[in-house]
Amino acid sequence: MNREQLDLEILNAISRKIGSTLDLAEVFNATMAILAQRLHMKRGTLVLVDGPEMRIVAAHGLTQEEISRGRYAIGEGITGRVVDSGMPIVVADIRSDPLFLNRTGARSGEPGPISFICVPLKYGNTMIGALSADKDYSDAETLNRDKNLLMIVATFIAQAVKTHEMMQREKAELVQENIFLRQELQGKYQFDNIVGSSSAMRKVFEIIALVARSRASVLIRGETGTGKELVARAIHYNSPRRTMPIVKVSCTALTESLLESELFGHVKGAFTGAFEDKKGRFELAHGGTLFLDEIGNMNETVQVKLLRVLQERQFERVGGTQTISVDVRLIAATNSNLEEEIRKGTFREDLYYRLNVVPICMPSLRERREDIPLLIRHFIEKYAKENEKEITGITSEAVELLMNYQWPGNVRELEGCIEMAIVMCGGKKLTADLLPAKLRTGAATQSVPTEKAVELAVNSLMWQQIPPAGQYGYLVPMVEKALIQRAIRESEGVKLRAAQLLGINRNTLHKKLTDLGIDS
Ligand SMILES: Nc1ncnc2c1ncn2[C@@H]1O[C@H](COP(=O)(O)OP(=O)(O)OP(=O)(O)O)[C@@H](O)[C@H]1O
Ligand SMILES: [Mg+2]
Repeated sequence: MNREQLDLEILNAISRKIGSTLDLAEVFNATMAILAQRLHMKRGTLVLVDGPEMRIVAAHGLTQEEISRGRYAIGEGITGRVVDSGMPIVVADIRSDPLFLNRTGARSGEPGPISFICVPLKYGNTMIGALSADKDYSDAETLNRDKNLLMIVATFIAQAVKTHEMMQREKAELVQENIFLRQELQGKYQFDNIVGSSSAMRKVFEIIALVARSRASVLIRGETGTGKELVARAIHYNSPRRTMPIVKVSCTALTESLLESELFGHVKGAFTGAFEDKKGRFELAHGGTLFLDEIGNMNETVQVKLLRVLQERQFERVGGTQTISVDVRLIAATNSNLEEEIRKGTFREDLYYRLNVVPICMPSLRERREDIPLLIRHFIEKYAKENEKEITGITSEAVELLMNYQWPGNVRELEGCIEMAIVMCGGKKLTADLLPAKLRTGAATQSVPTEKAVELAVNSLMWQQIPPAGQYGYLVPMVEKALIQRAIRESEGVKLRAAQLLGINRNTLHKKLTDLGIDS
């Protein structure tokens, strides 16, 4: 095989390798392995420009220690000069070359003369590094041919380096984008431990994300146990005030005068028992957030004082004359009907408008049943961990019970049920028998008032299937018939008991049975 054939074969093998992997070190090692086998090159290094220096990024035939020693300044030594000038350098015997630095120390114990070829790595007009190889001493013509071949190999490698860089950059960008998306998602849809993916809860999350940035007053409404306090805390901890305190005051827990002194503080001697000056919660929350729970129970005096703080951010301690200024963000919560309180005159309308700058209405659990499975999983995990139990699931029968209950106590009630079940559970799965009886007895439906239930039932009728002229005469006997049939079923066919259950006379029942055509 002549030299040209050999070169072609080498280039062919190298280009195949470059096409098969994106790993730069692997490409270079494979290239060097081919060069070592075919051209008896011993050591090879791939050096890349790295800021003001050059760094060995891949090496063949060098130990790790030799590699880490190999740092060059551009222009320094042979490799430096090649990168600096963009021209290849061939040295027949490096031992007699003053430029040779032997930085890596790899050639220290060599017995005979070594030749050295170093070619530049260019990408377009930019020097990006150098490729070099050692070879047993060779004649000038062989070295020249080797150099020409290495020049071509270098263009291949430069291409691979650029592709590699591009891939790295894209990967870094993707990672960055991923982090960004995750943060955004977290910002949007994940607030501490607030679980929910229903559209009602997503709306709540969106408002939290929006108001957290501002200092606007927020009024959180909703039935008991719907997560009002959870939301108040989420707003605080996602706001610029998060490093400052969030202070809670429950307006129901305290008597009228105690509430006033609790909120605004008092001076010594302001009332019996005021032995010294005391800071109020407003002062303690300075720079942070004050969470006023059950605001509907606040009395008139405190309402007036609160209104002033909201308007002027100023107040005096009870019994004091000094005006105190505070920077406090107010979040209030209530499950009472404030509009009704306003009508009755127990809640000030002006205060209501000040508080209700941003209203957040927490949906009841009944209105977002699709979140129940998520909440179940959340609480199983929480309480299994807390009780150090390995409970991993729940039977479908139990889930069905939990899904169908009315949950008047909302998430708090659900949480309580799961906690209790976990405590009592002896196996790996929660079963229906661990759940409270109220979920089974239909007590659930009792929480919808009968009147409302009848109204709902009537509204859900397919009216177009009912003779338009005789709705009353058609439907009322049907209702009577259903009622009587149910009573007879419940009293196991004993008519006297059925009549008692219905609260009607036995003879009346008999007549109805005949009139309505009920088999008994
Ligand atoms: N979306 C939710 N995800 C997870 N846990 C929740 C959620 N909503 C409420 N909870 C839990 O339910 C319990 C009651 O929540 P919270 O105290 O916030 O309700 P509340 O609306 O303030 O009730 P109340 O009006 O009775 O004070 C807490 O233990 C809370 O962690
Ligand atoms: Mg609460």
